[in-house]
Amino acid sequence: MAHDQDLASAYELIYTVAAGKNYRREAHDIAVLIRQRHPTADSLLDVACGTGLHLSHLRDSFAHVEGLELSNPMRTAAAARLDGIAVHAGDMRDFRLTRTFSAVTCLFSAIGYARSVHELHQTLDCLAAHLEPGGVLLLEPWFTPSQFIAGPVDIGAAADGQRHLARMCVSRHTGTTSTLTMHYLLGETGTGIRHWTEEHTLTLFTNEQYLHAIQQAGLRNVEWLPGWHDQRPRIAAIKPRPGRSHAAAPKPPGSTS
Ligand SMILES: C[S@@+](CC[C@H](N)C(=O)[O-])C[C@H]1O[C@@H](n2cnc3c(N)ncnc32)[C@H](O)[C@@H]1O
Repeated sequence: MAHDQDLASAYELIYTVAAGKNYRREAHDIAVLIRQRHPTADSLLDVACGTGLHLSHLRDSFAHVEGLELSNPMRTAAAARLDGIAVHAGDMRDFRLTRTFSAVTCLFSAIGYARSVHELHQTLDCLAAHLEPGGVLLLEPWFTPSQFIAGPVDIGAAADGQRHLARMCVSRHTGTTSTLTMHYLLGETGTGIRHWTEEHTLTLFTNEQYLHAIQQAGLRNVEWLPGWHDQRPRIAAIKPRPGRSHAAAPKPPGSTS
């Protein structure tokens, strides 16, 4: 079992160094995308914010940002990074903060941790409830059942000062569930080498299920946008202002997936 701190630092090494995920560029694109739909947007809530990497850049684009995260190690890392910013302990499926925001984001497929269609609806209801009228939801979905390919072993390695990290990840697919088994090896000069395993279960929702949950939560102007760094689209939607008409939702990409 890894020390709490290992989980958060392993996360950053794997995604920012080994996989080259560019949080700064993504945050810039997110801010542009939100302002195109809500020019006066000045506040943002990042739900399932992980170690706060998007927020560390988004704080430069919005006057007020907050985060919410279920995992204590991830939240502790986010709070340490985001001095002066509220990072709430909370579950995306059931949380209630005391204010609303111009934008609510749920990024890097965290939505896949909803374990059923019912939990997807609970989560979308919570996200929508924290948007002000005219506010923008930005959701980065997990794979649909027809997109997900189980089996290939993904290998990543990264070094950072005295630490060397290697991860192998293999996935399997059962029904509407994908399971990722990750083996980590963390070597540190003077400390030795530790090994731990994590198992992540994410639900393969269809595009129709995402669309239905977003609409049921009262959001409109749903858009499927091109992905930034992979083949998966992002979804944007707007919380209607009272008395304004909104565009009908387009058919989601792929009629049955
Ligand atoms: C793939 S990570 C994405 C983290 C961050 N958004 C990013 O882009 O780096 C998924 C995150 O979702 C969090 N998470 C999983 N289930 C959650 C839930 N029910 N409520 C809130 N956060 C959750 C995990 O702890 C993890 O930090």
